Amino acid sequence: MAGAHNRIEVLHGVNLNTLGRRDPAIYGTATLGSLEIQIKRWAQEMGLGSTFFQSNHEAEFIEHLHRLPEMADAAIINAGAWTHYSWAIRDAAEVAAIPLVEVHLSDIHAREPWRARSVFDGLVVAQISGRGADGYREALSVLKRELEV
Ligand code: DQA
Repeated sequence: MAGAHNRIEVLHGVNLNTLGRRDPAIYGTATLGSLEIQIKRWAQEMGLGSTFFQSNHEAEFIEHLHRLPEMADAAIINAGAWTHYSWAIRDAAEVAAIPLVEVHLSDIHAREPWRARSVFDGLVVAQISGRGADGYREALSVLKRELEV
């Protein structure tokens, strides 16, 4: 499927590898592995290629962002708690200079006040928050439109 200009990288940051056992009332019961399988299926239906990366190490995540333009035409990013304070990750995402959509499983605007701020404000094409796994499907369609594929 991955042809010209349709490669989407799905980036998950700190703690997202614990999905499934992490507060299911907030994040649901799906594991990251099953979420990624679902995202890949949606991407295929839309004619998009998808690849996946998760790290709990900020430096590794940043270095991955530096390499992103070689690997992908656009990306979906759920940076976990880094979203709320890591200006280094924001800067690295800016260096990547490809279209980004930010996704959060939970509604970051309806939880603790510190979660409402995102370092990606003004940088991403869209922020999709509080729609659970479906948020990733929406992000894929936003990026499909953005890439015009
Ligand atoms: C999250 C929301 C963040 O506030 C939190 O730190 C996460 C997950 C979400 O997907 O809802 O780790 O990004």
